[in-house]
Amino acid sequence: MKFGFFDDNNREYVITTPKTPLPWINYLGCNDFFTLYSNTCGGYTFYKDAKLLRLTRYRYNNVPTDNGGKYFYIKDGDTVWNPGWQPVKTELDNYECRHGMGYTTITSNKGDIKATTLAFVPLNDTCELTKVTLTNTGSADKEVKLFSFVEWCLFNADDDSRNFQRNLSTGEVEVVGSTIYHKTEYRERRNHYAYFSVNTEVDGFDTNRDAFLGAYRGFDDPVVVEEGKATNSITSGWSPIGSHQINVSLKAGESKTFVFILGYAEVDRDKKWEAPNVINKEPALALINKYKDEAAVDKAFAELKDYWTNLFKAYQVKSSDEKLDRMVNIWNQYQCMITFNMSRSASYYESGIGRGMGFRDSCQDLLGFVHLIPERARERILDIAATQFPDGSAYHQYQPLTKKGNADIGSGFNDDPLWLVACTSAYIRETGDVSILDEMVPFNNDESLARPLLEHLKRSFDFITNARGPHNLPLIGRADWNDCLNLNCFSEHPGESFQTFGPSEGPVAESVFIAGMYVKYGREYADLNELVVNNDEASRARKLADEMVDIVLDAGWDGEWFVRAYDANSNKVGSKECEEGQIYIEPQGFCVLAGIGVEGGQAKQALDSVKEKLDTKYGVMILQPAYTKYHVELGEVSSYPPGYKENAGIFCHNNPWVSIAETVIGRGDRAFEIYRKTCPAYVEEISEIHRTEPYVYSQMVAGADAPRHGEAKNSWLTGTAAWTFVNVSQHILGVYPTHKGLQVNPCVPKGFGDFTLTRKYRNTTYNIEVVNPDNVEKGVKEMYVNGNLVSGNIIPYDASQTEASVKIVMG
Ligand code: BGC
Ligand code: NOJ
Repeated sequence: MKFGFFDDNNREYVITTPKTPLPWINYLGCNDFFTLYSNTCGGYTFYKDAKLLRLTRYRYNNVPTDNGGKYFYIKDGDTVWNPGWQPVKTELDNYECRHGMGYTTITSNKGDIKATTLAFVPLNDTCELTKVTLTNTGSADKEVKLFSFVEWCLFNADDDSRNFQRNLSTGEVEVVGSTIYHKTEYRERRNHYAYFSVNTEVDGFDTNRDAFLGAYRGFDDPVVVEEGKATNSITSGWSPIGSHQINVSLKAGESKTFVFILGYAEVDRDKKWEAPNVINKEPALALINKYKDEAAVDKAFAELKDYWTNLFKAYQVKSSDEKLDRMVNIWNQYQCMITFNMSRSASYYESGIGRGMGFRDSCQDLLGFVHLIPERARERILDIAATQFPDGSAYHQYQPLTKKGNADIGSGFNDDPLWLVACTSAYIRETGDVSILDEMVPFNNDESLARPLLEHLKRSFDFITNARGPHNLPLIGRADWNDCLNLNCFSEHPGESFQTFGPSEGPVAESVFIAGMYVKYGREYADLNELVVNNDEASRARKLADEMVDIVLDAGWDGEWFVRAYDANSNKVGSKECEEGQIYIEPQGFCVLAGIGVEGGQAKQALDSVKEKLDTKYGVMILQPAYTKYHVELGEVSSYPPGYKENAGIFCHNNPWVSIAETVIGRGDRAFEIYRKTCPAYVEEISEIHRTEPYVYSQMVAGADAPRHGEAKNSWLTGTAAWTFVNVSQHILGVYPTHKGLQVNPCVPKGFGDFTLTRKYRNTTYNIEVVNPDNVEKGVKEMYVNGNLVSGNIIPYDASQTEASVKIVMG
């Protein structure tokens, strides 16, 4: 069952009922000012950091679901309704929500009134604009009342949700004309405030939540709206809100539009206490005045649309498969940009106060957006590298506002260092900018320890070179990519997961997955050294990577697939010797995509085992058989009920690894089958089972052991976005950036047909046509660049060309 449809021309998903299985959200904002916005107007806004600068309040895990947001109430006689249906939930005559690139439009009708809301964050201003248009569709004149509503958060979202003894007395606001200023704690320590204004005179306002709602009443029946009369309350402590009342007269057929602006202002004030509580309104007034006119709002909206159009020009495909095209051209790239902005901080599953920027997560996300925003990717790499420790290990997370490592979590995830090599290599392959390797970057944010980025990469590589266990495989530390594989726990703290007691860097447990990474990124590290003519270092790294291949084929091969790890007792994990958890997906995908066992046949065998043991109709499970009981020697992985998360869920993030691995051995049919199974557009038809948004990937889909097999969870902020884009764009469609130029080497299913692509790479836009006369899955027979036959399949990069046409003949 579907709850909407794709409108590809407008790059929108159109939701046709507010009663989606779960809130289906969108993100507004491209730079520093962000809003999470659900299809029923739930969500919240923050500036830069969802924990430290939260502007509006949201209660997670609330009932009814997704209660709290930015609401408009329309009082039409005795009927009260919201254009987004929630929170009053008056049945609407008509409802349509369009989630587009950085904006959401909701259009609804009730009786003779039609309401349209368009919400977006202009590209370069720290505010959200909502254009509300009311139309009288009836034949008689009407008088309706419009009430706006936001609930302020007292900026620090964590403190806001806990420290009530203080916070219920600190709230302060100021109202001037139609503008409500929220200035809590400006009198003492803050240099910022928020505001909510509308471009018309108001007939009343409220700033105290209790006055607006009434005692013991909810968002679904505010007394002020019921009575049709704002109280002009000025809150003193308690919970500050912002609400305007506008009485609207509409002749038959008439429309009126109001522009609401929710903004954030930062001001310079050294001696904050000198003018207690008197805010400098200039920055707010500048934006309020700028967006007074509807024309200015329309212009900002047009700029936002152009921004996305231009951005996506970097990669556009036209194939015979409409679903593939819409994912590649629109939604997959869009999700990659959202992970750039949010990392793992704020979604409907990440509270904004938990995880900030992940080290491994942000490095992997970069693989999916580096072609779109290379300059910002460069900055991101330097920020991430600055949280690395001098020994090459790294803080696992950092806070977006401060960019400092999170000491509560610390380090010890031994895959982290290698992801820095992965993203730097991707950045240089994309841009050719080797100068980044010379950038001086601090260790642990200590400037006195600054070294060139290339030295950071060396320490990343050597951290793994040196941290080896009894089989000469890399030590896993607290965990590797699989956060839940805590193989060193039990020796110290039986029965507790790493999250309860902190780092445990055990000396013994080893990871075959990290070994695969070491081979892949060790070779990419060697390539980088070659580029800057560090030939000795390049050959040292290459030799070490080659040695690791042998180690994996020896200690890491189980006969029919790759072993996952060795635990602290040197027992195998992910082997047929195990009672449960005999085969894991990660090493099959990663070792093969690193090229291990391709010649000796192990690669093919491992992938066949994946198909036989891990495949389902909804995607490839992370392991089998699921753990039915808790294994103290394995940790959190076995803490989940079978079929969920790392315990045999379909972890979408590593499905593309297996699909890429299939392209390495040339099986286009199978690679595409894996791609398709977890791809949201292909499961749109079963939205009642899948339940999360059909336009973005979720982290996990319940595996075959779970009662709710096929149900997705944790949408939006997942490395799945980047890796699926890498897979489909670089390996299936096959346009892969190398240091020498773009390589075109598609691996497609039989019958896929011819396709065309445009790819902007460095200074050049390539118009690529791929023809497949022999209907092969892989192989390039001929390549023509601007009509000339060129040998091989790498388009030699020529910086003087801004456009080039390329024809690829598969065969
Ligand atoms: C989850 C992982 C997640 C980790 C983050 C675990 O409970 O299962 O998927 O990466 O928490 O700390
Ligand atoms: C989600 C985390 O964000 C990611 O870093 C990790 O690799 C996966 N879970 C698997 O545990």
